[in-house]
Amino acid sequence: MPDATIESVLQEGRIFQPPAELAARARIGSMEAYRELVARAEADPDAFWGEHAREQLHWFEPFHTVLDWSNPPFARWFEGGTTNLAYNCLDRHLDGPRAEKTALIWEGEPGDSRRFTYRELQAEVCKAANALKALGVGKGDLVALYMPMVPEAAIAMLACARIGAPHSVVFGGFSAEALRDRLIDGGVKVVITADGGFRKDKAVALKPAVDQALAGGACPTVEQVLVVRRTGEATPMEQGRDRWWHELVDSQSSDCPAVPMASEDRLFVLYTSGSTGKPKGVVHTTAGYNLWAHLTFQWIFDIRDDDIHWCTADVGWITGHSYIVYGPLSNGATTVMYEGAPRPSKPGAFWEVIQKHKVSIFYTAPTAIRAFMKSGREVPDQYDMSTLRILGTVGEPINPEAWMWYREVIGHGRCPVIDTWWQTETGGVMISPLPGATPTKPGSATLPLPGIAADIVDNEGHSVGVDEGGYLAVRRPWPGMMRTVHGDPERFRKSYWEHILGADGRPLYFAGDGARRDADGYFWVMGRVDDVISVSGHRLGSMEIESALVSHPSVAEAAVVGRPDDLKGEGIVAFVTLQTGLSGDAALGAELRKHVGAEIGPIARPDEIRFSDALPKTRSGKIMRRILRALAAGEEVSGDTSTLEDRSVLDALRV
Ligand code: WT7
Repeated sequence: MPDATIESVLQEGRIFQPPAELAARARIGSMEAYRELVARAEADPDAFWGEHAREQLHWFEPFHTVLDWSNPPFARWFEGGTTNLAYNCLDRHLDGPRAEKTALIWEGEPGDSRRFTYRELQAEVCKAANALKALGVGKGDLVALYMPMVPEAAIAMLACARIGAPHSVVFGGFSAEALRDRLIDGGVKVVITADGGFRKDKAVALKPAVDQALAGGACPTVEQVLVVRRTGEATPMEQGRDRWWHELVDSQSSDCPAVPMASEDRLFVLYTSGSTGKPKGVVHTTAGYNLWAHLTFQWIFDIRDDDIHWCTADVGWITGHSYIVYGPLSNGATTVMYEGAPRPSKPGAFWEVIQKHKVSIFYTAPTAIRAFMKSGREVPDQYDMSTLRILGTVGEPINPEAWMWYREVIGHGRCPVIDTWWQTETGGVMISPLPGATPTKPGSATLPLPGIAADIVDNEGHSVGVDEGGYLAVRRPWPGMMRTVHGDPERFRKSYWEHILGADGRPLYFAGDGARRDADGYFWVMGRVDDVISVSGHRLGSMEIESALVSHPSVAEAAVVGRPDDLKGEGIVAFVTLQTGLSGDAALGAELRKHVGAEIGPIARPDEIRFSDALPKTRSGKIMRRILRALAAGEEVSGDTSTLEDRSVLDALRV
């Protein structure tokens, strides 16, 4: 983060109190109430989590042990208990009036929409679960979803959870190559996809990418493909392998018992980028994840029975898992799912959804807010958004200007802005204001949720002082924490638990983010301290993009860094050296960008490619990314360059 931004954050003195009317009705309605919860959790974490787990979830069998942390970093929560996430999200709401309450409102891109009551959604999930069984899917079998934002995506996730088949949702914007890697890594048995989806006013095919990923027997574990018809465009189906959803699912029985799952049974795998190597399959398990998605949703949005909640994420990311599907449904709330996005023909698309469906809680990303700011308040001002009561943001640091704009222009100063810090790995929100309790400051995620031992530490695990920067870490396990990296427990240990040595000998969870804490104890998250780049809130590993570039025959070596971007948070700059005899030009630059798009997905395409004869390296041959970052941002290269092997490289790289 450039110094100027840090300066403006440090000077940020504005504080906004929770609206009195909201606080009066809130579950946690004051800082005293918040501190009391924090103190209870500190005094006896097991009692605190045990009580919440018993009260908030349905158990087929009660658990006997809250936490087994005898073999860190491998935690076991709620051992002895059996529960089912789909049961908690659906069946337990069917006893009373909630059965006829709207569970899911779906808004299609072309303007079509569908609604499901809890009873209807449960029936659809049962049919889909029976269809999966008919395809031979049983407990423990991994099912991949590669889908547009249609109700069937949520239905398929819940159907998997119902029969104990873990899901692996792969974002529909990833390429066939990226999909193939994830299908192979997981050992996926069945893929659920759609003919296509609607993006920016046109139908975009999706199924061909699945065909391409599976071509030539590349994924030998994949037996069947279930295809939802969304666009209706001609779609080749492979006999014996591909089945239409409407042909198989619609004729199934709507009776399918939820399988009692052990607390630590695998619930889903979700891939995310790290600083090194290929994406990691983050593993979450049944009870702990369910509790964390449930509790955090209840706390951070102070959910009420008449709320209409809308999270604009894609179900392909953890935000969609926890706050479109599982958190809201586990609480019996009404959740909105939107297939579209703002686009030139419909710049007010989001505001139209809020107006049409009377949304009261709106949860989106800073990158979206910055884009809205740019097109001016004239657009949102045309819509009635008086139903809004809470505004949330997630995915990347939010600059105070965007925070203020969100509060004033979208919330008319009435709605608390909830900046939520968390990660795929944490399962749910970790640091966030509580709307009825926490005074907010523009740009700060404020304070850890009760029970979350978040801290800012130095290399040795000591807490740093007020306004000193350090690493964001978590000192104690929490129910929603990831359990392992799929197929690679050592990588789990190395990536998250070995960077910082706990001063007291206890392991610490290292999040990969840098942060600072002010005199009030408020957290200010500064961004990644590793080689992860955050483009519009999407996490991309520098090394993944580098590998994609190097796989092009013209490229000898590549180094990829992020550079600050007003709209996207970070943009991608690639420094590329070519094979001997080749020289870089605009056409090759365009070809390389396209190549990265095909290897990973359009979001990973570099904004700029700089060709050079050599990259700055240390004497031991390590690429000096710090220098490249400064060069990419157009800053002077400062700090120690004495380890640089060949200083003339620097001059050649300046533009
Ligand atoms: C990384 C996790 C979990 C939601 C979506 C992203 C960054 C997330 C914030 C925030 C500053 C944030 C961090 C984190 N991040 N929320 N409120 N303020 N930074 O999930 O893809 O796993 O990325 O997103 O850098 O480590 P993810």
